[in-house]
Amino acid sequence: MRDFIRDKLYTRTRGIASSDIYFRGHLVQVAKNSKYIARELNANQDVCEIAGLLHDIGYPRYFDRRKEDHILKGIRISEDLLNNLGFDLDTIEPVIDCIRTHDNHLEDKSPLENRIVHDTDFIVAMDNIKTSIELMREWGFSYLESLDRIKQDVTKKIEWINLKLFKDLAKEKKKEFDANIAHMRRLGTYYEFKKQSN
Ligand SMILES: [Fe+2]
Ligand SMILES: [Fe+2]
Repeated sequence: MRDFIRDKLYTRTRGIASSDIYFRGHLVQVAKNSKYIARELNANQDVCEIAGLLHDIGYPRYFDRRKEDHILKGIRISEDLLNNLGFDLDTIEPVIDCIRTHDNHLEDKSPLENRIVHDTDFIVAMDNIKTSIELMREWGFSYLESLDRIKQDVTKKIEWINLKLFKDLAKEKKKEFDANIAHMRRLGTYYEFKKQSN
């Protein structure tokens, strides 16, 4: 992918993304990490980077998750965007397929690129607890509720990881993740206590 096309793609995606926190904290992270893993595993780097960047582009603004299936909406937005930027079908089709199969929709025949984006999506969630808390707060959850939901979400998604490389990585990262959550929970409980006793 040429640099100026990549710049355009990121700028346009940032413009469409539901919130800036989500763009920085999730979409760009999944894009960068998917691309890096694609290089390591000899998969298509462009497809992985673009699909990582666009996989959750279908979330409605302000994250009203009930409104519409974010995968279907994301596919429509991505097709328009990629056509508009002049990408050819050899790139658009596999990207769309990665978006379709993310969030636990992999099939036996799904290519390596789909598996990379799929698993990276879950791995990144363990690195960005602070971003996840900010998002949960935007959705109206308290700090402590947010921690519980994030932990439940990650624990569930780890079970869905497909590639052995990511399964091993997830096992290691989960220990650190659990310790971080426990630490943040203690801090949150302390601040709640201070608020009440003031
Ligand atoms: Fe998603
Ligand atoms: Fe995601």
